[in-house]
Amino acid sequence: MIKRITSFVALLTVLAMLLTACGGTASTPTTAPPAATDTTAPPVATDTTAPAATSTTASTSSSGASGKIALLLPETKTARYESQDLPDFKAKLTALGFDVSNLIYSNANQDANAQKSQAEAALTNGAKVLVLDPVDSDAASAIADEAKAKGVPVIAYDRLINGTDSVNYYLSFDNEQVGKLQGQSLLTALNGKTNATVVMINGSPTDNNAKLFKAGAHSVLDGKVNIAKEYDTPDWSPDKAQTEMQQALTALGNKVDGVLAANDGTGGGAIAAMKAAGVSPLPPVTGQDAELAGIQRILAGEQYMTIYKAIKKEAETAAQLAYTLLNGQTPDASMVNGKVNNGKVDVPSILLVPVAVTKANVEDTVVADGFWKVSDICTADFAAACTAAGVK
Ligand code: BGC
Repeated sequence: MIKRITSFVALLTVLAMLLTACGGTASTPTTAPPAATDTTAPPVATDTTAPAATSTTASTSSSGASGKIALLLPETKTARYESQDLPDFKAKLTALGFDVSNLIYSNANQDANAQKSQAEAALTNGAKVLVLDPVDSDAASAIADEAKAKGVPVIAYDRLINGTDSVNYYLSFDNEQVGKLQGQSLLTALNGKTNATVVMINGSPTDNNAKLFKAGAHSVLDGKVNIAKEYDTPDWSPDKAQTEMQQALTALGNKVDGVLAANDGTGGGAIAAMKAAGVSPLPPVTGQDAELAGIQRILAGEQYMTIYKAIKKEAETAAQLAYTLLNGQTPDASMVNGKVNNGKVDVPSILLVPVAVTKANVEDTVVADGFWKVSDICTADFAAACTAAGVK
């Protein structure tokens, strides 16, 4: 426990330094939101690699950056990429003094081959830093190797790139912890029900994160519930998740006590399937991303929980890192708070802390942190639910 607290304090210290280094507004400590009232788990950093602020290498010079930065994101069906990651990344680059007409942006729409072509085009067009959120964590090693051959540093953004020594940094959340929080929340919601029937709707089998979410959830649920059906959802597609849930309902005669859905998109698909099948009341369903639709479903009582990940902090840190590398500088060692093995090497990593969100702490997490405004959430359709949950 002491180790965990020490580790959490160490992480907060790093984040405070990051905020300073990024010139960010210190008023919104996105990785450590106010104490969650949810009892499932406090935001705890499981990484025990204490970051040492030993490097004296400057990391924040705002002069001299020339050349292009490429940001390659994986898909558009999940809301975050186009509505949060991209604009937050761009805004931070602008704040650093980078001319965003030199930003090359591509979205692969879940097509790993298309992503490879996009990366090659970016390298041909003069990208000097690659920020890559891979569709396929294994296949993307070829992209990283091509970049390295051209002397272009690679930041694995949100998803790790496996099996290569061509990745300079990995920036993400503690993704196994995401799965654990989902599993713990589901157990809380099931309230000790014996032999509860659970359906697991995991993410894309090509996404390294999906494997970590799944492993984290299994580590909590196995032996405590009956996982009657389990699916890996190609492309993280909400439509495919809906089909999977339909199949599960048919096989189980509509008797489901809980659904471990890996993100809000797939959770939304599972909920749509249950509504269409006339399941009432809906069993607890998990999620991730704190998407607006997910938060609204939580307030309306259709979804039990989601995971809030401070995407703004993630995107801004990526922009800072990319800009520093573009300047030919070595990021300050204090930026890095761990290392993660990608099957070939230990990749210097920056891991942020995920937080479980239920109806009880919407206000204390996503609202307090400025992720969503009350006016975004509490539209006419959700006004009564907001009032009932004390979100105002
Ligand atoms: C991300 C999630 C996202 C999912 C689907 C994962 O790698 O970490 O935030 O919901 O991909 O795009």
